[in-house]
Amino acid sequence: MHTNLVLGTTVAAAAIGYFFKPKKPKTELEVNSVPIPTVPSYLPLQVDSLLKYIFSVYAEKDEFEYLRHLSAQYGNTLNFRGFNEDLIIVLDPSSIQHILAKNQPNYEKGAEFQAIFHDFLGNGIFNADGETWKIQRHLARPHFQTSEFRDAALINRHVDELLKVIDKHLASNPEKPIEVQSLFCRFTLDEATEFLFGEAANALQDEDNDFATAFNYTQAITGWRFRVPLWRYVVPTRRFLKEIKKLDDFVYRIVDKGIAREEARTREQEKNPSDDEHGGKGGHENLLDHFLSQRQEYGFDREYLRDMLLNFLLAGRDTTASLLTFTVWELSKHPHVLEKLKREVAEVVASGTAPSYDDIKKLKYQKQVINEVLRLYPPVPYNTRHSVEEDVLPNGYYIPPNTTVAYGAYSTHRLVDLWGDDALEFDPDRWGPERVGKIKPFMFVPFHAGPRICLGQNLAYTTAQVTLTRLLQKYDIKASPGFKPELMADIVLFSRNGVEAVLVKQDLSEI
Ligand code: HEM
Repeated sequence: MHTNLVLGTTVAAAAIGYFFKPKKPKTELEVNSVPIPTVPSYLPLQVDSLLKYIFSVYAEKDEFEYLRHLSAQYGNTLNFRGFNEDLIIVLDPSSIQHILAKNQPNYEKGAEFQAIFHDFLGNGIFNADGETWKIQRHLARPHFQTSEFRDAALINRHVDELLKVIDKHLASNPEKPIEVQSLFCRFTLDEATEFLFGEAANALQDEDNDFATAFNYTQAITGWRFRVPLWRYVVPTRRFLKEIKKLDDFVYRIVDKGIAREEARTREQEKNPSDDEHGGKGGHENLLDHFLSQRQEYGFDREYLRDMLLNFLLAGRDTTASLLTFTVWELSKHPHVLEKLKREVAEVVASGTAPSYDDIKKLKYQKQVINEVLRLYPPVPYNTRHSVEEDVLPNGYYIPPNTTVAYGAYSTHRLVDLWGDDALEFDPDRWGPERVGKIKPFMFVPFHAGPRICLGQNLAYTTAQVTLTRLLQKYDIKASPGFKPELMADIVLFSRNGVEAVLVKQDLSEI
């Protein structure tokens, strides 16, 4: 009885203290700026707001609809509180520019983000701030600047495999829709692992591939930890850690082989210094060899290399798969765009040959189509940063210190006040020479912007263009009757039920 009384009094005192704690005095910056509209809630911990969000996701089968309602009601800068934490959402281009570029040092990934991603990504580039981030970016950048021809050849090799898998499907089920999302995920896993590790995971050949399963599972759980912060504390981690161990075994095997290769190369160079084919840096076949060539100078260990490789894999693999998936989806619904694309491919690329890098540069309408897909389906739909100090956005709104600020490419790319009344329509002509001038900087941010802009942007365009060209050379794309994707706001934009299309064999030279 006595214990209950003490406990009850303590809890009551804590609750009173929590709800009526004295407010901090406002700073001068806060007094002179505008408070951000907050989505009202009436229950402790804002449970009612969170439940409304969950119901909306189930009712609309689209995780983005709720935010669209909120921004229509409260504007393009709003505060969505949950569990007594602010989540400031900014959608207007000048605020995005401020956070990602102009005042970027004030907006870090932050300790909470890093803790959520640490089991999976360690201290790799995607999960690092400050000097740790800067060094990795500096080390990696040259590999992404010197690689166009090498990349096109590598991509083409994996497209050969992709086409074989599609042909096999068509041979046994000629009319049956094909689920392209999982297919593209397997394809980009193979392409990315070869680009990064020098060794493909072979997920296209083997649907139940261990590495692919472990990677998908680990990424999905990390996505839940990101969206539901309590997840980390309440959901058991046994399977999660087991799958991470599988990833580690795969990556460490490749890293160890790479280290042995590098050591042999170094010994060889010491014997014959004139034989250094790469001049020490740059021009390597894969990112691991590129990093290894700088190992002596920077003293990386196995763990550092493991983190770097898995971070690049996370950054590059599903994002490109998402882009290809929604490209096929939109083309299946827009036959007139598809026809125009096919004519361009037939004119530019010699019949029966794979596109060269020069061909790719001439496929201008294709690039417009890809940009339009990136606008409506940015593969990283939402992203967060953490404010270090208090700040004021260009529109006058106050950002407290130590607060999560989210920007949503998905929503910004669909705002009617920026893109016009047809904002939700798929229209690649908006990227044509007459209209492209209306698209101002920071209205379109699929690859992020500022100092942390995506390093793999060119590789992503080349992969999408080579793959799309070769698909169009071989198949017509038709809609799968009655199919509709259910969009999901995960780390990467995907459809919960996959994406279906009907592929029909054709010969482009006969068009
Ligand atoms: C359509 C494909 C892609 C899209 C839409 C995309 C988008 C993005 C975005 C939005 C970020 C910012 C993430 C953040 O800071 O929170 C990012 C960063 C990054 N991306 Fe990509 N990405 C794509 C493909 C690739 C590829 C193919 C690679 C390389 C293999 C790559 C490598 C990276 C890296 C290393 C970063 C971290 C940069 C840094 O923090 O300095 N990305 N990407």
